[in-house]
Amino acid sequence: MAVPAAEWGSPAWWREAVVYQIYPRSFADANGDGIGDLAGITSRVPYLESLGIDAVWLSPFYPSALADGGYDVDDYRDVDPRIGTMADFDAMVAAFHAARIKVFVDIVPNHCSNRHPWFQAALAAAPGSPERDRFLFRRGLGDGRPPSDWRAVFGGSTWEPAGDDWFYFHLFAPEQPDWNWANDDVRADFLTTLRFWANHGVDGFRVDVAMALAKGFGADFPARLPTRAELEATPIGPDHLLYDRDDVDEIYAGWRQVFDEYDPPRVAVAELWAEPSPRKARYATPRSLGQAFYFDIVHAGFSARRVRRVVDEVLGWGRESGSASTWVLSNHDIVRPASRFGLPVVESDETFAGEDRDRRWLLSRGTTPPEDVEQGLRRARALSAFLAALPGSLYLYQGEELGLREVADLPDAARQDPTFFRSPGESVGRDGCRVPLPWTTGPSFGFGPGGTHLPQPDWFGEYAVAVQDVDPQSTLNLYRRALKLRHELQGAAELAWVDAPAEVLHIVRPGGWEAVINFAPTPVALPFTADQVVLATGEVTAGLLPGETTLWLLTTR
Ligand code: GLC
Repeated sequence: MAVPAAEWGSPAWWREAVVYQIYPRSFADANGDGIGDLAGITSRVPYLESLGIDAVWLSPFYPSALADGGYDVDDYRDVDPRIGTMADFDAMVAAFHAARIKVFVDIVPNHCSNRHPWFQAALAAAPGSPERDRFLFRRGLGDGRPPSDWRAVFGGSTWEPAGDDWFYFHLFAPEQPDWNWANDDVRADFLTTLRFWANHGVDGFRVDVAMALAKGFGADFPARLPTRAELEATPIGPDHLLYDRDDVDEIYAGWRQVFDEYDPPRVAVAELWAEPSPRKARYATPRSLGQAFYFDIVHAGFSARRVRRVVDEVLGWGRESGSASTWVLSNHDIVRPASRFGLPVVESDETFAGEDRDRRWLLSRGTTPPEDVEQGLRRARALSAFLAALPGSLYLYQGEELGLREVADLPDAARQDPTFFRSPGESVGRDGCRVPLPWTTGPSFGFGPGGTHLPQPDWFGEYAVAVQDVDPQSTLNLYRRALKLRHELQGAAELAWVDAPAEVLHIVRPGGWEAVINFAPTPVALPFTADQVVLATGEVTAGLLPGETTLWLLTTR
């Protein structure tokens, strides 16, 4: 469907958009080096057009040593030569725009790579120099002891020695030094980067680790850093040294001025992974980034009670911020939904232990507990179709539209994710959702003529685009129908809940568009006629909603 012509230039085009995340290295490989590239993406524009999305978001394609899959950026204003050239980028944007598909790029502002020229200059410069002030250098406690016992997200210390008892701070891998956002050069350089991509036709930005930019410590304050235990006991917010501080607002207010230099204004979406924060809606205000991912829906698992609560919360944050809500089940950091939902449901009241279950399952290489493949797909289809009927924008991750499962048994020797190397025995990392896509049943499943940078399992062929294309009941065709209908039915961003049994969620949108999901494994009776059904994620007969199935009804035709 793509963005309707009438809305293309409107400042509000993004509010109900379906945004498809491309992980460039694993999407399609045109030049046969085993790594996906921009020319590969351009060759698949017709496929994305046929899917009915409105925008794509590209994970990083910048020059990088790939210490963290490209989230370690050497140069923010260029393309990795393995992925293409700036000319390829311009050609890709032109092809998307010709298909009325908007383009988002990923901005990684919390950290760069240790190969970035400014970081190299900082290492070469003396403590206290302007070069070092662009990063978070701090003196150690003597005898080689780091400034604090903090633990990095990927494991190990957050502090890496830089010589002479000095250390630099990295929230993630040591190859990813954090920027000092109190430094004017850093602020100015990111504005240059935003303008650079906007001038190359980019419509929007996905902002990596958006909550963490402003830190409450630099080279000389505060005198004593809290211990790890103290840090973890501090609620995320103004008093936390790492996450969600007030000073982050002013950074994004500056970005907003740049976005508003363009017509239509450039848009942005914040990645907000951190712990629940009651303040997170403020990233989505028109003064700030304008939109935010709320991963609470991922943490809701497959539970009517929890999904209901999260939908109400997320819609509330949408109203509070004046933004549209965002719905997301999948991305390059989490176990694919078709696999997650094939594992036993974790029930608990407030905290969802699903992430821990997924981590353990990956540690067992996908053997314990065994994955129920059919149930996983059935549930993933049902919940995706329910979310697609909600007001707001929908973010999909490549392969989700194929119902693709996690590759949980990658050989250790093939793994690339730094979490695997930095937390041995605790985590195997995220490579299993980043395996190159299956397009056909031929060699490399049609990914490209030169093999794949991560091995594909034999069963990938069953999920190939070419196989699903010709099967009317396939997950791919379900997504196509859902996205097309969603465009046709979408009106006002309103929703009302209809009374339903405990395991069922039932909504109605203006125009008589209803969506009903049954979370229970057993069918429930529901008064509808066959001609009211416009979409179903399983086989339905009038008056009966099967278990783990979603229906869309049109009741006022
Ligand atoms: C974000 C990205 C993730 C990356 C991390 C550090 O969470 O989505 O892939 O590893 O930031 O940049």
